[in-house]
Amino acid sequence: MLKETLEQGRQLADAALDRLIPLETQHPESIHKAMRHSVFAGGKRLRPVLCMEAGRMVAGSLPARIEELGAALEMLHTYSLIHDDLPALDNDDLRRGRPTCHKAFGEAIAILAGDALQTQAYEVLARLKCPAEARVRIIEEIAHDTGTIDGMIGGQVVDLESEHTRPTAEMLEYIHRSKTAALITASLVSGGLYAGAKDNQVARLRAFGLAIGLAFQIVDDVLDVTQTSEQLGKTAGKDMASEKATYPALFGIEASVHRADALVNDAFAELESFGESAETLKELARFLVERKK
Ligand code: IPE
Ligand code: IPE
Ligand code: MG
Ligand code: MG
Ligand code: MG
Repeated sequence: MLKETLEQGRQLADAALDRLIPLETQHPESIHKAMRHSVFAGGKRLRPVLCMEAGRMVAGSLPARIEELGAALEMLHTYSLIHDDLPALDNDDLRRGRPTCHKAFGEAIAILAGDALQTQAYEVLARLKCPAEARVRIIEEIAHDTGTIDGMIGGQVVDLESEHTRPTAEMLEYIHRSKTAALITASLVSGGLYAGAKDNQVARLRAFGLAIGLAFQIVDDVLDVTQTSEQLGKTAGKDMASEKATYPALFGIEASVHRADALVNDAFAELESFGESAETLKELARFLVERKK
């Protein structure tokens, strides 16, 4: 069941991405090749899947063309990975089992490919097939959650500034909630809004997203220590080498895994009012902490 959800969601998202990102033959070719290199390298597509399943939960069935919203979220996520890997940020050579964008295309094109995925995402969002009011709220939500105030860019800034320091637990939680949980929250909230969620349902999805998003990044930190580069498709052991502010560094692996588990269990309570229809999102949340890559 979970396998099917992930597989079908991945296929829907991939088909939409393929339709929405310019072809490699489109002028200027280098930028479109770079965008496609990073997008079609085998990501898990978790943000599109969470978005679509939030929409399904609210509407009772998968809302028509919601995969385009999922694709926009994946474009933003991939842009964040391309920039995260740049020499000026994490300086990584391997991503999704391939050379990073700047390794394959050079830094200038990699920076622009990240920018281009971001602008492409907003073009797609502006054309979403949902009521205009929901569309505007979706754009506001996503822009805010990827921005500087409690959003992805803010989190990335503090992540970088915390290298070689011993952060407090509060700072570490701020980094993880902002750099990662915010976009995961945006995925759930926007999927709900697309399906016509009421304010109280949006609030539930938001609380659920913040909790599982934090758990997701804690597990990312744990996997960096426990898995191989081959398994992850990105360089393992990188966080310790860069003296990053991570959960395992501050609390150890066991306590980190425990915290991630507890966050997911707490998150389940947020979906109580959705009853049976919340089962798939709960399964996905469990998968986020049990994943091995
Ligand atoms: C990696 O995200 C970056 C983080 C925010 C931790 P994912 O683990 O979802 O990466 P892909 O999309 O599957 O490559
Ligand atoms: C990345 O966090 C968060 C982003 C916003 C991209 P990491 O730096 O830990 O992600 P990985 O481990 O390189 O995928
Ligand atoms: Mg990073
Ligand atoms: Mg990184
Ligand atoms: Mg990491």
